[in-house]
Amino acid sequence: MPEIESGRVGRVLPGRGAAAVRTLILAGTALLLTACGQREAADATGDRAGAPEPGPPLPIVRVQDVNQVRLGQAVYQRHCSVCHGPDGRGQPGDWRVRGPDGRYPPPPLDDSAHAWHHPTAELRRLIAQGVPGSAMPAWQGRLSEGEIEAVVAYIKSLWSDPVYAVWYDIERRALEN
Ligand code: HEC
Repeated sequence: MPEIESGRVGRVLPGRGAAAVRTLILAGTALLLTACGQREAADATGDRAGAPEPGPPLPIVRVQDVNQVRLGQAVYQRHCSVCHGPDGRGQPGDWRVRGPDGRYPPPPLDDSAHAWHHPTAELRRLIAQGVPGSAMPAWQGRLSEGEIEAVVAYIKSLWSDPVYAVWYDIERRALEN
């Protein structure tokens, strides 16, 4: 996790549009295709079709509210780590392979899986409503809205700067739509 010892932590990351970032998006798409079912794969293809060319680079400011991230970490350790593993690293074994029950294991939520493919609103929704047909419970009513926001902030704090920069682009596009 990035430094969260004091106050608010802000870092300016390189803008989007760099070749490295585009490569990461492509790698991420491949991951998404292997990781998710047909429906999501189709959605992803649809999303990419006709996507506008990247514009001029914009600076990205990565700001974290330390108290919110700490609360999110406490919520995570209490309710989520049993499935998603310590520090969001997941369980031993391959999260992309269905278990004997036909269900996917809980994926890591750090930047080694695909939590970072989801804009904030989608992360919030996944946590609040759970994933029907999987082990992922719905947390609405069990966690306050503030706790859900905090655990989303904590999950984001687990992502490296390059992955955060790619996520930021996904977030920006989601907010434009
Ligand atoms: C009983 C096990 C279990 C618990 C507890 C649990 N999860 Fe999950 N979670 C899962 C599983 C399984 C999935 C994958 C669902 C699927 O098949 O898409 C998942 C998926 C997710 C996803 C989507 C990840 C992605 O890459 O798309 C997020 C975000 C998430 N969980 C957050 C949380 C948070 C936050 C908590 C605690 C408040 C939590 N989970 C507690 C089992 C669990």
